[in-house]
Amino acid sequence: MNFTEFETERFLFRKLRESDFPIVYDWLGNSENMKFRKSTLSEEETHKYLDWAISSANEEECKNFEFATIIKETGALIGVASIFNLDIEPELGWTIHRNYWRHGYGTEMGKELLNFAFGTLSLRRIIAGCNANNIASYRIMEKIGMRREAHFIKSQRRNNELNAEWCDRFQYAILWEEWKKLRCNLTTERKMYVE
Ligand SMILES: CC(C)(COP(=O)(O)OP(=O)(O)OC[C@H]1O[C@@H](n2cnc3c(N)ncnc32)[C@H](O)[C@@H]1OP(=O)(O)O)[C@@H](O)C(=O)NCCC(=O)NCCS
Repeated sequence: MNFTEFETERFLFRKLRESDFPIVYDWLGNSENMKFRKSTLSEEETHKYLDWAISSANEEECKNFEFATIIKETGALIGVASIFNLDIEPELGWTIHRNYWRHGYGTEMGKELLNFAFGTLSLRRIIAGCNANNIASYRIMEKIGMRREAHFIKSQRRNNELNAEWCDRFQYAILWEEWKKLRCNLTTERKMYVE
């Protein structure tokens, strides 16, 4: 399926654009925002990421959906909601600018990603993973109905923000039939914009 933009009551999920660079770099280049990632990104790496996201979105059969997430009321780009690796093992991801943390946006993005992944892309199974210290990220996974199915011990070396420690990693998953049971709680009104 090609990249499809859509909106919900609160958000617009659209393609990333080169003009998003300043705000995207403001989170990818920030050590607080990237605490649980391998490292912060340089300006050049951020441009490369944007080029990759934009070219992925333009593929006829999109395998990596990187949705710029906009609050409709204010027009603010607050983060990116992702469904990636569709050709390998479909996985969810979320990154929100630190100014917008703890407003429930991450959980709402997670729900909408699941609705899109199962309701629109008709996927069978989806995973998500995070550093075991990243409580906010795995709480989202739990709140949207995913199950913890793996705990990898000291499997990843992390960045200077975590003193380059070896960290544990959690993996969560959800099947289509599990989502279907939860759907009445998760589904919201969506308007789709197919190009
Ligand atoms: C992970 C992230 C997307 C969470 O976004 P958010 O909008 O703050 O999340 P929500 O407000 O929906 O909160 C989700 C849950 O996490 C909890 N939470 C949020 N921040 C927390 C923190 N710093 N410490 C502990 N719990 C936290 C919330 O209380 C909520 O759980 P609850 O309902 O049981 O109270 C955001 O912190 C972020 O972008 N972090 C940097 C990038 C990142 O690490 N991405 C994930 C990589 S795997």
